Amino acid sequence: MGSTRRVRKAVIPAAGLGTRFLPATKAVPKEMLPVIDRPAIQIVVEEAVAAGIDDILIISSPYKKVMEDHFDRAFELEARLAAKGKDVEVEALRAIGEHAQVHFVRQGEPMGLGHAVSMARRHVGDEPFAVMLPDDIMVDGGLLLRGMIDALDATGRSVVALKEFPLSEISSYGCAAHSPVEAGSPLVSVTGLVEKPRAEDAPSRLAVMGRYVFTPAIFEHLAAIEPGVGGEIQLTDAMDRLRQAEGMSGYVFSEGRYDIGQKQDFLRATVELALEHPELGPEFARFLAELARRRD
Ligand code: UTP
Repeated sequence: MGSTRRVRKAVIPAAGLGTRFLPATKAVPKEMLPVIDRPAIQIVVEEAVAAGIDDILIISSPYKKVMEDHFDRAFELEARLAAKGKDVEVEALRAIGEHAQVHFVRQGEPMGLGHAVSMARRHVGDEPFAVMLPDDIMVDGGLLLRGMIDALDATGRSVVALKEFPLSEISSYGCAAHSPVEAGSPLVSVTGLVEKPRAEDAPSRLAVMGRYVFTPAIFEHLAAIEPGVGGEIQLTDAMDRLRQAEGMSGYVFSEGRYDIGQKQDFLRATVELALEHPELGPEFARFLAELARRRD
């Protein structure tokens, strides 16, 4: 695979029901919950842009129209803000999605993550592409995704992000059997994938995280599989077929990931991003230190 095929498209499946964050997600999509002043989905789009991607397809649902509004221009609001001299706010609105084209397709029914990804087939065409789950927020300036794209460029193989967890937690994730490639490299060769194994059956402690870079062959495998657990088309099943057909790399990382579909991690992501925020950070750090002192 030559460098002319470099990954430039990302697919963000965002049509799920978001049950773990009810009641907040009854009327507001999980992806629109703000982490400080940006909705989660905007943070993911900005990560894609930081990794060199300029074309994004969001898999949405009929109940999440507000996501489409967020990435659309808001001429009236911009004009009113401009008339009041609020140039910084106008700029912040214009910057949303400015460095990438953001497209939408609707998944009429939530028939599983694999089904959501298969909705992207026509848009992606015959190119390698990234899949980014918006539950996973990376605070790393696009470093992980860029590394994964470089790995696909170098090897021609699909790449999946992997992170080590204690065995007691592995049953919440897809788990990868693997063999090393080269000492010191973040890459491993994936030799098997198991969805949510019991701790005693887990082939390793490496869990699949929500960043993937696929060759377009994933679509053939998604089309070929039968619905699995819960009548859903499982991405893991198609990935395991893709792995057997073409091989697959894992990219092992440790820092910067928050699962904002979980309340505890949502809080952590908010605190880390607040501490990094150029205007809010210093005062917020003092507040946290003071709070910790008071609670000691
Ligand atoms: P999850 O399994 O986390 O489901 O989906 P969910 O509905 O979003 O959240 P919970 O678990 O009920 O709280 C993983 C990703 O796949 C997308 C989701 O939007 C999420 O980003 N997805 C899932 C779809 O786009 N379509 C589906 O049919 C299922």
